[in-house]
Amino acid sequence: MIPQDTLVKIDGNRQRYVDELLGFLRIPSVSTYSRHTSDVRRAAEWVFSHLRRLDFQSKLYETARHPVVYGHRCPYPDRPTLLIYGHYDVQPPEPLEEWITAPFSPTIRDGYVYARGASDDKGQFFTYLKAIEAVLAVAGKLPINVKILVEGEEEIGSPNLAPFLKTHQKELKADAVAVSDGSQFTHGTPAITYGLRGLSYLQVDVQGPRFDLHSGSFGGVVANPAQVLADILARLKNPNGTIAIPGFYDDVAALEPWEREAMAALPFDDASLKAYLGVTELIGEADYSTMERKTARPTLDINGIWGGFSGEGAKTIIPAKAGAKVSMRLVPHQHPSAINQLFKDFVHSLTPDGVKVQITELHGADPVLVSRDQPSLQAAAKAIEIGFGKAPVFIREGGSIPIVNLFEEVLKLDSILMMGWGSPDDGAHSPNERFSLDDFHRGIRSAAALLYELAA
Ligand code: BES
Ligand code: MN
Ligand code: MN
Repeated sequence: MIPQDTLVKIDGNRQRYVDELLGFLRIPSVSTYSRHTSDVRRAAEWVFSHLRRLDFQSKLYETARHPVVYGHRCPYPDRPTLLIYGHYDVQPPEPLEEWITAPFSPTIRDGYVYARGASDDKGQFFTYLKAIEAVLAVAGKLPINVKILVEGEEEIGSPNLAPFLKTHQKELKADAVAVSDGSQFTHGTPAITYGLRGLSYLQVDVQGPRFDLHSGSFGGVVANPAQVLADILARLKNPNGTIAIPGFYDDVAALEPWEREAMAALPFDDASLKAYLGVTELIGEADYSTMERKTARPTLDINGIWGGFSGEGAKTIIPAKAGAKVSMRLVPHQHPSAINQLFKDFVHSLTPDGVKVQITELHGADPVLVSRDQPSLQAAAKAIEIGFGKAPVFIREGGSIPIVNLFEEVLKLDSILMMGWGSPDDGAHSPNERFSLDDFHRGIRSAAALLYELAA
């Protein structure tokens, strides 16, 4: 059990923790933009120097792209080891004009800090560093062995972390991993996440004539790439909302009755979701509830689409090319490599003569489903209760974290503890991303309590 003094210490330092977080949030560590490469590095160095100050043996590992920060403080051969995972990179902030205050000028309004990365994932991951600092300040030592792994490529699919795990398998050995990169069930209802969806993300490029053509002079004789693309995309789904790719559902695990019951029992209603999203209807497979559709069923979405003229007024052309980004969320036991192949075969089968279609794989992630009887789950639940004053509910999340599956497969960790301190309405990836300062504080308390619960 965490000493009361440590919680008092955390409560007393609340403002300083926030001030430090603001400094972290000022670094525009957008991993996908090459023009931000040096900013991404600055964020890595910021984390690295923090770990150093906590007396962690730390290293900044170079990769083909963004650095991995790793540190450990493992003095006890006979006590458990916790691996803490987080990411210091963030999504692009655009559209900039929609931000009330600039994305990398963190601002506090009504108990929330607004900034890109506030919730995903800088604010969440930073709670562990402050928890460790408080425990060390009060006790002079940690109750268990701790390793910390922070990457700068999560938002681009963790391309270099997977090989890193393989080459550092021994160093990273642990009994459990803590991942705080998701959210509570709702603001004020903390959760333990036991499932994540996987991801297949592809780009489709359609090439027609050599250049844009006068649609009067040539319309009626050449295939129009924008039209071809629209036809192809339209045929990816059936009118009832299911995905039309042959074989797509073959490996989908059916939801078991106990799980459907548990999901139905979660405090959730469609009306408030509609109101939050500003839509009049929710759509999707008729036989599944909203909660099931958004976390435990696979999806296909067009993420972006382009081609031809979209400027002011009208321009009569047949565009030379058109394209789209398409992603599919996967569930157990689908795998991105097999789904990518099914997608490619189907799109090629739909492609008419007269255009060329090229398909590029962008990134992928395997789905994750961890057992609800993992050894450390009770410890995690107690820690959350101490931090949030409320027992967590168990949920599956619709988002993806590419590396989590490899914690199981490569590192063979027995326990994967996914505890998101954020909220579904934090606006991760959206304009005006925010993180509740109360949740930041509760997250620090929970993270500190977790170290003691795992020692018990
Ligand atoms: N933190 C999110 C994943 C997440 C979202 C977990 C919502 C739980 C609830 C993560 O940073 C993320 O955005 N992942 C990407 C995948 C990646 C390959 C770009 C995603 O889910 O789109
Ligand atoms: Mn994240
Ligand atoms: Mn993200």
